[in-house]
Amino acid sequence: MTQPNDFAWLDRASRCVAHGHDPALGLVQPIYTSTSYHYLDEAAQPYPRYFSTPNQESVARKIASIENAEAAVLFNSGMAAISTCVLSLVKPGDHILLLRGLYGGTHSFLVSELTKWGIDFDFAADVDEFSVKCRPNTVLAYIESPTNPCLDILDLRAMAQFARGAGILTIIDNTFASPINQNPIDFGIDLVVHSGTKYLGGHSDLTCGAVVGSERLIERVVSQARKYGGALNPQDCHLLERSIKTLDVRVTRQNDNAMAVAAFLQSHLAVKRISYPGLNSHPGHLLAKAQMRGCGGMLAFELSSESPVRDFLTKLKLITPAMSLGGVESIITIPALTSHKHVCEEDRLHSGVTPNLMRLSIGIESPRDLIADLTQAIESCAQGSKSRAQHES
Ligand SMILES: Cc1ncc(COP(=O)(O)O)c(C=O)c1O
Repeated sequence: MTQPNDFAWLDRASRCVAHGHDPALGLVQPIYTSTSYHYLDEAAQPYPRYFSTPNQESVARKIASIENAEAAVLFNSGMAAISTCVLSLVKPGDHILLLRGLYGGTHSFLVSELTKWGIDFDFAADVDEFSVKCRPNTVLAYIESPTNPCLDILDLRAMAQFARGAGILTIIDNTFASPINQNPIDFGIDLVVHSGTKYLGGHSDLTCGAVVGSERLIERVVSQARKYGGALNPQDCHLLERSIKTLDVRVTRQNDNAMAVAAFLQSHLAVKRISYPGLNSHPGHLLAKAQMRGCGGMLAFELSSESPVRDFLTKLKLITPAMSLGGVESIITIPALTSHKHVCEEDRLHSGVTPNLMRLSIGIESPRDLIADLTQAIESCAQGSKSRAQHES
């Protein structure tokens, strides 16, 4: 799983294409379906649940390379990557720090499972609060930047500095940014997790996850992972390898599209609130510019209209109301009813997930068509509200 550094001179876009597999076997890594390998002559014996088959290793090398890390390990979902990673680093009696505003699935997992394991936790909103809430038995801090769905930005360099000083590990979920826009390891963050179901896969047809970091920490995660299972199968490794080859092209287009859509929404009178780190109005804009190469394809917004938010979704013709994110197709959700449905209302509201907040995952369509679709849906809702008001008066 180690990254041979003979590709280190290549730009990330080239590493997406070229790094990982052995070109002598063909430009595409063959799919090794075997679950059993001859072992007498081998120092290491490949086995799927040991995360050591040729397909798992070649894609893990590619992901490690584009995250500027030594090593990576693949899982069969983002949550398998996150749960295994956290549980490989904690023991009963430990305390961990969690960023407020995490993805709902992670929030639910950590809050419900850690308690059962006798692990205590506290939420914090920024680096200062992390340092105030750090205890002698704190072992790690779990963060996201940008957060899902509100797109809050955390200072990664300051976070890593604080954690190193306190002697605790840091894990970041880098799903929203993708390795094209942000490499947290460069700022001193210890471990990066991905829901590969999103940008890495990118075509809404693959469920997978990854943990990336130093060889030493990845060995720790893998030794736990072998007990939990959750490895990625060879066919999905192949799909992931194929998808990552176009990651740079897709994400660059999604960055541009999202910026155009965010600027449009910001200028529209019917929009009450918009969060996109690429906008000057975003409180984390300067930080995002300093630590991200692009601001990503995700944005969150709220309309000022009184009409139910579901009405707006039904008016859209190109953008599909659908779960997940990061694919080539633009999709929209209401996080309070989807990704954050199982987070208690108090925690949801505390992190800005209001009932009418919509989360837009921008694809690679024409930005003109995306803006036209949003425009017609906003106008159609406004007309509906006007005729309802006339009818009632
Ligand atoms: C930021 C983030 N992290 C992790 C996950 C979990 O990934 P998966 O659905 O692949 O298990 C998601 C899923 O939506 C997510 O949005």
